[in-house]
Amino acid sequence: NFTPNAFVTDMVAELKEKLQDDKVVLGLSGGVDSTVAAVLLHQAIGKNLYCIFVNNGLLRKNEFQSVLNQYKGMGLNVKGVDAEDRFLSELAGVSDPETKRKIIGRVFIEVFDDESHLIEDVKWLAQGTIYPDVIESVSVKGPSATIKSHHNVGGLPDYMKLQIVEPLRMLFKDEVRRVGATLGIDPELLGRHPFPGPGLSIRILGDITPEKVQILQDVDAVFIEGLKSWGLYDKVWQAGAILLPVNSVGVMGDERTYEKVVALRAVESTDGMTADWVHLPYDFLMKISNEIINKVKGVNRVVYDISSKPPATIEWE
Ligand code: XMP
Repeated sequence: NFTPNAFVTDMVAELKEKLQDDKVVLGLSGGVDSTVAAVLLHQAIGKNLYCIFVNNGLLRKNEFQSVLNQYKGMGLNVKGVDAEDRFLSELAGVSDPETKRKIIGRVFIEVFDDESHLIEDVKWLAQGTIYPDVIESVSVKGPSATIKSHHNVGGLPDYMKLQIVEPLRMLFKDEVRRVGATLGIDPELLGRHPFPGPGLSIRILGDITPEKVQILQDVDAVFIEGLKSWGLYDKVWQAGAILLPVNSVGVMGDERTYEKVVALRAVESTDGMTADWVHLPYDFLMKISNEIINKVKGVNRVVYDISSKPPATIEWE
């Protein structure tokens, strides 16, 4: 049985011992894991922890600014790097999911590498890797399992020459949340749904354009806000919207429309390895569907994904 207090005491001592006066760089993602890792390291080594938060242009609506402000409020030494244009221009015209992931992984490393070179004499790279990441990346060896290359494990170019420190490596998600609570991190931040590293790029089926990103951000924001205001957000492991590469016919007033279709996805899970679709109330789905179609220009149809994992996956690509 896991005791977060003891974990924090022991890990802070271990990190102090291991890192001494060395400088450490860490990539914050806005997610629970990297945030808890950062606060833990901050307790151990204080200002020697340099955090970098990259806007890849594929985050949720307004997330870059709001999360950056939240980090600053927590006393973390964090630099926000707005690389939206760089990511979106490298992704232009790309539809293949694995190619999207590879591009995002590569550009992230380039941006991160540029930034970490600005910190003099940095010795370590800290990551918020947790136990299920370790397992999944081990099982991603065989040809059948190159299904999705999770870019948050491994993938470190040799030229970075940094030693790796992963304080959450042995923990499961719920344990990470409990450690975060012990560290006094805002419960709202700790309760955030998982969000994939490649962000909305893998929820825009087909090629990615700034217009599609904006449509999807708007749809996603209506959905997520709705889940929160109906008290459903915390009952769901993960939720989001997918922009489909099809148009469908609709009608508005006397006019025929031919516009985008979005799918909503909400799943229950304990570790993301298996998942069941959530039986969201019909009343909720009705309200949200109307709100999306009324508010988000360019969308005239909403569908709800009723597939579980396996055989479907949580993401659509
Ligand atoms: P799937 O779609 O494989 O997703 O059922 C399982 C969990 O992993 C997340 N996911 C990713 N996370 N990089 C990430 O960091 C990725 O490329 C990636 N693909 C999927 C997904 O959101 C879910 O939580």
